[in-house]
Amino acid sequence: VAMLQMLSPIKNLANISIPMQTMFLASDGVCQFLDTEPEKDTGTQTLQNVSGRLKFENIDVRYHADGKKALDNFNLDIRPGERVALVGRSGSGKTTVVNLLPRFVEPSAGAVYLDDTNIADLTLANLREQFALVSQDVFLFDDTLLANVRYSRPEASEEEVLAALKAANLQDLVDNSPHGLHQPIGANGNQLSGGQRQRVSIARAILKNAPILLLDEATSALDNESERLVQQALERLMHGRTSIIVAHRLTTIEQADRIIVMDDGKIIEEGNHNELLAKQGYYAALNHMPKQD
Ligand SMILES: Nc1ncnc2c1ncn2[C@@H]1O[C@H](COP(=O)(O)OP(=O)(O)OP(=O)(O)O)[C@@H](O)[C@H]1O
Ligand SMILES: [Mg+2]
Repeated sequence: VAMLQMLSPIKNLANISIPMQTMFLASDGVCQFLDTEPEKDTGTQTLQNVSGRLKFENIDVRYHADGKKALDNFNLDIRPGERVALVGRSGSGKTTVVNLLPRFVEPSAGAVYLDDTNIADLTLANLREQFALVSQDVFLFDDTLLANVRYSRPEASEEEVLAALKAANLQDLVDNSPHGLHQPIGANGNQLSGGQRQRVSIARAILKNAPILLLDEATSALDNESERLVQQALERLMHGRTSIIVAHRLTTIEQADRIIVMDDGKIIEEGNHNELLAKQGYYAALNHMPKQD
């Protein structure tokens, strides 16, 4: 009888292994997350009402100790309110320049100054208050439209969120849903179109209302109508702010005060659209190519 009674517990034992494996995998993920090193936040200074002057001084960036430099002795001085466009082929270091400013990337040599203060001396919280970032790949949460836009300024009222959505040309999205602002947008916004996702991230940036705008334009092709809506929203966002834009759209590039052409982590040409065309260099050649996006 004892043997018979043991039979079914032993069978059950065999069934434990699969849930155990899943649990091990999950706990691995959690442990990895807990093990991530916290960002270095040793700065102590804070800045209020920045004018938006930015200076990159002799910057080297290496992602791997022995790898090649992603930025090589990079120097750039940006006036308050200036609109600078970064162009160059894939891998030339444009995103790296943008990521230096909120300190997502640390330089291996040189320093970045914001209004004459080394950004390494600022607290991360204060530094990141100064920038609104629209990045190359938008990240959205599996939550409502409201929560996703409000992410950039959690204390904002519903009216302010609505105004930001309107400025980002997303009024339609709100009007056409029975849930309005409270509509869920799916995991990483998969219930929205590509152009709408971009505009949600622009709405975030508008709501944040930071003095400096960092924009890493997505390369993905949009149809003419979405492109026009995104362009309009961007114009509103850039108005009167220091902006650094990694640009692929010709209209954005042409309207910049200064265009910086990068290659292999270095600046190879700079000037405005007409100056660069007259130079007959890399930028001019780029312009003669058929328009891709
Ligand atoms: N996290 C990383 N780890 C290792 N190498 C990286 C990392 N990010 C970028 N790089 C390398 O640094 C160089 C510059 O990359 P960066 O992302 O700045 O290019 P980009 O000009 O933004 O290109 P794209 O137009 O494709 O976005 C590339 O050679 C890239 O392989
Ligand atoms: Mg990039």
